[in-house]
Amino acid sequence: MKLFDVYPLYDINPVKGKGCYVYDEAGTAYLDLYGGHAVISIGHGHPHYIKRVTDQLQALPFYSNSVQNRVQEELAERLGKASGCNDYHLFLINSGAEANENALKLASFWNGRTKVIAFRKSFHGRTSAAVNATDNQAIKAPINRTFEVEFHEWNNLESVRASLEKGDISAVIIEGIQGVGGIYVPDVTFLEELQILCHKYNTVFILDEIQSGYGRSGKFFAFQYADIQPDIITVAKGMGNGFPIGGVLIHPKFEAKHGLLGTTFGGNHLACAAGLAVLEVIENEQLIENAATVGQYLMEQLAGFEGVREVRGRGLMIGIEFDFPTGDLRKQLLYEEKVFVGSASNANVVRLLSPLSLGMKEADIFLKRLKKNLASVHHLAH
Ligand SMILES: Cc1ncc(COP(=O)(O)O)c(C=O)c1O
Repeated sequence: MKLFDVYPLYDINPVKGKGCYVYDEAGTAYLDLYGGHAVISIGHGHPHYIKRVTDQLQALPFYSNSVQNRVQEELAERLGKASGCNDYHLFLINSGAEANENALKLASFWNGRTKVIAFRKSFHGRTSAAVNATDNQAIKAPINRTFEVEFHEWNNLESVRASLEKGDISAVIIEGIQGVGGIYVPDVTFLEELQILCHKYNTVFILDEIQSGYGRSGKFFAFQYADIQPDIITVAKGMGNGFPIGGVLIHPKFEAKHGLLGTTFGGNHLACAAGLAVLEVIENEQLIENAATVGQYLMEQLAGFEGVREVRGRGLMIGIEFDFPTGDLRKQLLYEEKVFVGSASNANVVRLLSPLSLGMKEADIFLKRLKKNLASVHHLAH
């Protein structure tokens, strides 16, 4: 059997990872400023993570959600403390799309409505409701288009207000920092006003922190730069450092009912052990503070580079917008300089989503290799 060919692949086969590096079959080291798409939060092959997951694997990797699961409770407790969202309730699933799917579902259960507001260039996942709230027509099948979604301009409060006033919007869903779209940080006042409007019109305010959460922005959640308390917060990616796990953080105003939501694999013992190891390492190694410091340094340095139009982001979620399409630059970085970076839907943007453990030393290695390559690629592009 061959693989269903849906991914354009780089010609590299990583077989090992350690810290901020992955290694191919020949043992060549690649500096990882992509983190496997923002998934590697605490770094590759962390010994504490390996031990915790291995111990759980040997004890009990899985049992269903029909029994007590102390590891799940421990994870909820720890996540509440780490994020400052102690009074929220946690529902666990396996991916980001599932997190948003359940968030949108809860919103609709809550107010009985079906219309959703999302933003231009948004990405919320590939399951039915999540993909319908994603601003990319090419990835929606007719079966996904079952409810109306309005896509509003980023930071445009007035257009959202005009819609919300009609009183029929079930949920507003917004990324803490827009990722796939090209790294756009929402205005603090926009988020704060949005929350006030959502409350006024009984619309559920959903913060998608799947890419921007878990310390990536230099705070536990990117929305915490604003003074808000979203109704629902969704997480995944960095939550398991590669182990598939996602979560829905639900404000206490939502009442749980047996059978309302459910999943076979979500919240299994092994996934929760991975989730706990991640939170322990983030805290013990002060990775959130590190993301803020190293990210700030990178952004300041990058702003002065040749061909750079704008540097956007917070912490280690950085978008570098160049004045030329970056396909060749990214290839050169990977194949010649052995550095992984990410792309975005805007071809001129390079996305940096490194492990939160990226050190100043690695940041400098990246800056040096980028600078070296920029000169040739930039001139070729003009
Ligand atoms: C902001 C955001 N939401 C949701 C998702 C979907 O997550 P997953 O691929 O785990 O389903 C992604 C993935 O890139 C994302 O960046």
